[in-house]
Amino acid sequence: MALATLKDVLAKREDARAVGAFSTYDLFSAQGVIQGAEKENLPVIVMMGAPVLAKPGNEYIAKNLVSLAEEAKVPVVVFLDHAKDYATCLKAMKLGFSAVMIDGSHFSLEENIHLTAKVVETAQHLGISVEGELGALAGLEDGEEVKNSKMTDPTKVRQFVENTGIDALAVSIGNAHGLYKGEPNLNFDTLRQCEQASPIPLVLHGGTGLTQEQFALAVQCGIKKINIGTEIKKSYIEAFVATQGQNPAAYDLIGIPQACKEAVSGVAAEKLRFFAADWAKFIN
Ligand code: 13P
Repeated sequence: MALATLKDVLAKREDARAVGAFSTYDLFSAQGVIQGAEKENLPVIVMMGAPVLAKPGNEYIAKNLVSLAEEAKVPVVVFLDHAKDYATCLKAMKLGFSAVMIDGSHFSLEENIHLTAKVVETAQHLGISVEGELGALAGLEDGEEVKNSKMTDPTKVRQFVENTGIDALAVSIGNAHGLYKGEPNLNFDTLRQCEQASPIPLVLHGGTGLTQEQFALAVQCGIKKINIGTEIKKSYIEAFVATQGQNPAAYDLIGIPQACKEAVSGVAAEKLRFFAADWAKFIN
């Protein structure tokens, strides 16, 4: 099965389902995500965050993601998450990624449009998809903290999409990266207005900690891609600690990564199935 783009895997407007996008950090987390997708026979988006790609030597992990996607039994998008500049997007494109996110949400609308359109221009020549962001998400993601969130303004959505040429749009509707402080509170009215205004699929970041009802409503309102990061890290590290704890003297560096992979695979499979179909059971 080939490396896929966002355009290949994101559902059409009338088709109420979403694809899971999972943050990965090494070979084992990436293999776990793909294994989960193969188990469910569903397409998947394997993400590497820009701060992860920036670490010395991690371009080799990035290349591994592309190889894994090319050999997978289901369509796999290899996606650069939250790049803040053009150079990082270009680096991922050269490494063979099939999709990039340029996050200009910290800029003014005009600057965000300018930067995002520049990335799209290059990506389009290479057949690579681009996700943009309008509004800004708070929270901690891959070691980078954003203190203040800004809700997406639905009246700016069409202008942003048309002037950038992006393939998918990340929205800020009360969602946040990392663990939520208290109950997450999503504004579904704003989401519906964004969906009405947007000619392209919408993306929900900050999936960890949202309830099944919230995921279900988000899919019903038109979300087509849902990002999960912290839950992947949590499952991986808990499996690592538990397996090491079972036999501390073994320092089992053969068995522990396999346990981590299995744990990640379980999370990915469950989320993919829920976003594709099971969500409908949570709608009255
Ligand atoms: P969480 O870590 O909150 O699941 O968010 C992941 C994300 O949105 C990556 O872009």
